[in-house]
Parts: sequence; C-alpha cells; structure tokens
Amino acid sequence: MKHLLSTAELTRVDILALLRLATEFAAGGRERPARRDDLAGRVVASVFFEDSTRTRLSFETAAKRLSAEVLGFTAGSSSLNKGESVRDTIETLSAMGVDAMVIRHRSSGVPRSATEWTDASIVNAGDGWHQHPTQSLLDAFVIAREFGLTDGLDGIRVAIVGDLRHSRVARSNVDLLGRLGAEVILVSPPSLSLDAGAACRAVVSHDLDEHVGSVDVLYMLRVQRERMTAGLIPSMEEYSRRYALDASRASRLSATAIVMHPGPMNRGVEMRVDPADLPGSRILDQVAAGIPVRMAVLATLVGPTSAPAPGGSRGH
Ligand code: CP
Repeated sequence: MKHLLSTAELTRVDILALLRLATEFAAGGRERPARRDDLAGRVVASVFFEDSTRTRLSFETAAKRLSAEVLGFTAGSSSLNKGESVRDTIETLSAMGVDAMVIRHRSSGVPRSATEWTDASIVNAGDGWHQHPTQSLLDAFVIAREFGLTDGLDGIRVAIVGDLRHSRVARSNVDLLGRLGAEVILVSPPSLSLDAGAACRAVVSHDLDEHVGSVDVLYMLRVQRERMTAGLIPSMEEYSRRYALDASRASRLSATAIVMHPGPMNRGVEMRVDPADLPGSRILDQVAAGIPVRMAVLATLVGPTSAPAPGGSRGH
C-alpha cells in the first residue's frame, strides 16, 4: 500500500491489520503513549488547504510519535495567497524531500491528483464530499474496542444520522463499516440523502425515531451549513426537531448504545444534549483514537516494512 485515498482501496484484511497495529500503538494509553522510531529519518508533511483541528493535529502527533520530521503547511499563510496553484504547492513540498503528504482539500479528488505530482505517499485527510478514510478507520477502531470485537463488526447496528449528502464521513463509513459486517442505517431528510451508489449497502430511512431505540451506535453528523444550498431543509429548527439528538431521544437509547460524532459539532442543531451528560458518548474517544490509528496508517505506508518507492528511494 503506497497511498490511502479511499476506503474502497482497503480490503477487509488491510482494515483489520491497520486496526490491530493501532491497538498495539494505543496499548500504553494516554499516560504512556507509544513512541517508536518507525519513521526516523522520514519527513511527513501535513498539507491542509481546508480547516481542521482533529485530523491535522492527530496526524502531526502520530508522525512525531513515530519519530518523523513534520512539515506543517496551512493554506492561510502560504503562497497560495499569491496565486500559487495546488499542483505547484505539492511539487514544491515534494522538492523538499517529503516521504508522505497528508492532504485535505475542499474539492473531491485533489489527493488522487497529487499522486501524479509527487512520488511521496499520499494520505487523504478529507476531500470535499468524497472520502475521509482515516476517520472511518478510527470510528471502526472505537466501535470494535467498545464491543470487544477483533475480527470485524458483524452484528453491530449503526445509524448514521444527518446531513449525509454533504458528508465525506458518511461515504467513507457506509463503505468501511459495512464491509466490516456492520448493519448501517442511513437516516436523513430526503433532500440530504446519500447518492444511491454510496448507499447501496445500507438501509435508508427518513425517520430517526424508528431506529433510535434499537441501534448499538448512534452516529450523528454535522449539518454542513457552509455546503448547504438554499431550500434543502425548511429551517434549522425543523431539521433539529426531526433529526437532532435531544434529551427525549437520548433517553430511548439502549443501555449499551454509544453515541459518536466526527466533530466539529453544532451544539443546538444536531446535538441538543451535552455529550458530557451522555454516559454512552464516545466523541472524545474518537479524537483520542485518531492518534494510534493515524500512526498505524503512516507506519504502514512509509515505515520500515512498507514497499520502497520506484527507483529505491522514497519521496522525491
Ligand atoms: N473529524 C474531522 O475531520 O475533524 P476536523 O475537521 O477537526 O479535522
């Protein structure tokens, strides 16, 4: 595996291997995090053309815990502001001797295009509405750990709720969680449904109340107001009334159900309860899992046992 662009490129065996490696990296817990030299002498660039808190910082932490050098690029303070193109930016970073680039962009397909502009390994850290593969890996990690599963997610019912249409997390999760054996129910207003191709493995519903009491995982999504065009929902109030997690719905969750959200959250829109008041909230566990899971991805792509780049040297 040289790049991680999409969950579709991972076999079930690949996914389970990454989750096992992440479990190894997570074994020391937050007090004694794993520190290894798998990426000693390697350079990892975090190349974020779109805002991020969790993904960028956890990738950078993951790379440092594996002893890589980290180059941080943020669009707001870069020469993009002087008219430099994305391609020139990638080629410039590549010329600095980068072994891996972790790329986020608001347009679908930019990480894939980047594979043609550099020999570095490319990790998709979220592209447009398309994919967010490491989010899905860390979500699978959290669910598997919660339910004591080591060989997939068979028998787990997951409802993914909210603005599916604009969500790269929904597209990645319906694929990856589904292929691990989870039963995925997609719940949204009809105007915010996933395209039929992406939803083909899942049950489609427009009624959260029908499912809230019977799921193992209630996975809430952010309403992506920045991507919403006029008329998709009648009003935020109407949306929240039908699709938010509020105190009444929270009280109907089963005692063993967990609540997840990839963040950032819109409090008062899709989340009308404080996660701190929900014993089943695993939202901060998702954030914490981002580090060992992203360590596993980086170690697999550019660590000592990864395949060398054509020509025998990595990166440039
Ligand atoms: N879940 C997620 O991608 O969060 P950030 O936008 O903060 O990286």
